[in-house]
Amino acid sequence: MTPLYDVLKDYAQKDPARFHMPGHKGVFLPIPELREAAALDVTEISSTGNLYQRGEPFDSAQHLWAQRFGFDCCQFLTGGSTMGIHTALSLCCRPGDEVLVDRNCHRAVFNALALLDLEPVYLERPWLEEEGIIGHMEPEYVEKILHQHPNIKTVCITSPTYAGVLSDVFQIGRIVHAHGGKLFVDGAHGAHLPFLGVEAFQGADLVVVSAHKTLPAMGQTALLFVNGMDQDLVRLHASIYGTSSPSYVLMASLDAARQWLEDGGAEAYRKAARRVAALREQYPCLRDGLVLDPTRLTLCVKDGPAFARMLEQRNVYPEMEDGGHVVLICTPQDLEGNFDRLAEVLEELRSFLGPCPPLPAPHLPQRALSVRQALFAQSEVLPLEACEGRVAACQIAPYPPGVPVVSPGEVISKKELAYFAQIGYNVKSEVRVITSL
Ligand SMILES: Cc1ncc(COP(=O)(O)O)c(C=O)c1O
Repeated sequence: MTPLYDVLKDYAQKDPARFHMPGHKGVFLPIPELREAAALDVTEISSTGNLYQRGEPFDSAQHLWAQRFGFDCCQFLTGGSTMGIHTALSLCCRPGDEVLVDRNCHRAVFNALALLDLEPVYLERPWLEEEGIIGHMEPEYVEKILHQHPNIKTVCITSPTYAGVLSDVFQIGRIVHAHGGKLFVDGAHGAHLPFLGVEAFQGADLVVVSAHKTLPAMGQTALLFVNGMDQDLVRLHASIYGTSSPSYVLMASLDAARQWLEDGGAEAYRKAARRVAALREQYPCLRDGLVLDPTRLTLCVKDGPAFARMLEQRNVYPEMEDGGHVVLICTPQDLEGNFDRLAEVLEELRSFLGPCPPLPAPHLPQRALSVRQALFAQSEVLPLEACEGRVAACQIAPYPPGVPVVSPGEVISKKELAYFAQIGYNVKSEVRVITSL
């Protein structure tokens, strides 16, 4: 069942005289590869509904997704998980609220803190020395911090991480609920997990996933799942952060991706997971003792940037790298032939593979101002290396993964500068700091 896609196809087949947006009218785009998609690229007319209002075909299309993920409701998003993060936090919080925030969150969460004027209390994760990565979020630790901050009613964590590490969302959810709070999970990298039978999000009140990261869906597509809230309110808050002209091509691709997964695509993901499991056995990778996304391949390498370059020279393009890892996003769309090529290249480059060199653990900088005060303060631009003792007016984050090392309002001390140098961040790059008085 593809309620939205069906409506769009029916409309296109009628050969309508389209005196409405978009201006290509479904017939002409100067990029020939996009011409077929143009027929489905429509606007809100009576049959195509409205993303931000009740009614068909969105009610059915979103309900099918909600059912599949085991949530009360689903909201299609055309602005990525970024839009879902902003929507979710504005549904949970009031301006000035304290929130418990995983420090490993994506930069979109920090922007939401500023826009919504939230006061973060950061949750730090254990540093796994041997693996050179941060570990899962420990439920007992979340409980301890909630005891210390009984006013906090919103907890925001990321699971899985970029490297594929999953946290026990169910257990964390029980703890948050026992404190009368709500748990929001940024599951941007985990849209495929429920189709693999991984119970990644049960226990959360709100979850956002980027369909575009791991599913056969168009760039920018994402889904917000919500339990126990009025769906009209979810729509209203989503509409604050989304365009009033959401792309029907993107939304149809969400509708069709789910049906494809129901029709055998899920088995294709299980097959991809088996290929990844075999590669993990053969090459140094994150695996033992960690709860991982079965399709994420995080290679342990002696020099991440050098290894990524060698892969690219062989026409194999990874998702990201750090000093000791290269992360590959694997899906069935990588096809058997590309997995074979990857295995050949890894065999050729075996001597450059793990163990990863000692990597520095991240730490929490000292805070001088709120994220909101700092982001909107008067600021100037300086090379990072000249910013010792200055207060950041922007996020300073290697991208990907886009996790801020320094957030707006935090002090760039000697320690932070040393950390940036150790992780190979370009300390000559320009950053924005608060203007000295
Ligand atoms: C953990 C995490 N959350 C959110 C995002 C933002 O997702 P999107 O690009 O779909 O807006 C990213 C992007 O890389 C991410 O890694």
